[in-house]
Amino acid sequence: MKEKFERTLVILKPDALQRNLLGEIIRRFEHKGLQVVGLKMIQMGDILIDEHYAHHKDKPFFNSLKNFMKSAPAIVMVLSGINAISAVRLLVGPTRGHEADAGSIRGDFSLSGQSNIVHASDSKDTAEAEIKRFFTADELFDYSKPAELYIYADEGFK
Ligand code: CMP
Repeated sequence: MKEKFERTLVILKPDALQRNLLGEIIRRFEHKGLQVVGLKMIQMGDILIDEHYAHHKDKPFFNSLKNFMKSAPAIVMVLSGINAISAVRLLVGPTRGHEADAGSIRGDFSLSGQSNIVHASDSKDTAEAEIKRFFTADELFDYSKPAELYIYADEGFK
């Protein structure tokens, strides 16, 4: 895959907060070398959920998904980096936790199809729309990191 610099949207869902997993999940993204360029806590409501999950509105699980997404606050974040959209999807794993490989976030922390800890944008167009949905331009930050830290975020890597 050709390397390109991208931004992607991640939601740490209510179950991530309720299970005290925020630090663990953000650590994984940071250690991969992804840069956090936007981050905030929100309470999702009906209008935002209807818009964000419009493509699922006719699915039998939609009402249950809505109640789940409203059950506690969520953390929304924008991550930036090389091929960030596909890199984040690999770290997150497929939708159903019970099908996700060990080592991925869903593989390590979820057995569920619904309570699957994180949402991550699935394409460039989706990422652009989702970032605009949750962040204004002045909530996103552009800052530099030394190149070697950007790629190898683990402490002590030489
Ligand atoms: P996400 O990646 O945010 O995209 C849509 C969400 O719908 C998904 O994660 C799950 O939280 C939820 N979802 C998908 N399939 C099911 C299902 N079969 N039953 C319940 N919830 C689901």
